[in-house]
Amino acid sequence: MQEVLVNGFRMAYQDIGAGAPVLLVHGLPLTGEMWQPQIEELSRHFRLIVPDLRGLGQSAAGVSPVGITTMEAFADDLVDLLDGLGLEKVAYVGLSMGGYIAFAFYRKYAARLNALLLCDTRSGPDTPEGRVGRYQMIEKVKQVGAKAAVEVMVPRLFAPATYQNNPALVAHLTEMIERQTPAGIIAAASGVAIRPDSTPLLSGISVPTLVIAGEHDVITPSAEATEMAAKIPGARLVIIPQVGHMSNMEDAGLFNQIVINFLNELKVL
Ligand code: MLT
Repeated sequence: MQEVLVNGFRMAYQDIGAGAPVLLVHGLPLTGEMWQPQIEELSRHFRLIVPDLRGLGQSAAGVSPVGITTMEAFADDLVDLLDGLGLEKVAYVGLSMGGYIAFAFYRKYAARLNALLLCDTRSGPDTPEGRVGRYQMIEKVKQVGAKAAVEVMVPRLFAPATYQNNPALVAHLTEMIERQTPAGIIAAASGVAIRPDSTPLLSGISVPTLVIAGEHDVITPSAEATEMAAKIPGARLVIIPQVGHMSNMEDAGLFNQIVINFLNELKVL
């Protein structure tokens, strides 16, 4: 892990491989470690920049003093990281919250992107019921810590086949969530809860875009990803069969191949 000072805290990140730069932005309440299957394979093709977002993983100390990190604040951190590395443009790959942050990033820093890969994410805000559930989780995390997030999230992260056939992956993600600080989870989840509706942005997206969705994702369903892709001019959509929300881990081989093919076809990289 390397560290760089961004917006007043030390952001931990990995910088691996050579070639066109690709930024991998993790979900909630996870860390850059969720990209391990991509780090192993994609780093043979591209230069991967894999941060732990503010308040999470080894960037835990960066938690916002006001107890809430907006998607815009995460995007500001990322652009500071890219500035620190001297990277003018990247292909941005974001999964779930990483995708919510992608929209904030696009809003402010579109010129820094040469491709957008939106994985298991949605452009819409939380539904009213979703927001109630999110604040309930935040309250429980305040009371009992990260294990409340495990209880809410882990039963929803994977496809049925993954729970059955890959208990090691389920255990790995459980352990990753358990390691997060309550303050980090609360700050990010509170930011996610108040994120704006990014749907109006979609028709104006002018960078090559790939939407990837897990067939059995119950957190950000593939039907919504399909609608989202249809609203982005020229966007491609790939639905990965037999996987859930963590498509990049549940079928890493197929996920990696889809990303490699898409990025290799782009003349802009
Ligand atoms: C994530 O994976 O980033 C979160 O599950 C997203 C969410 O809860 O909306």
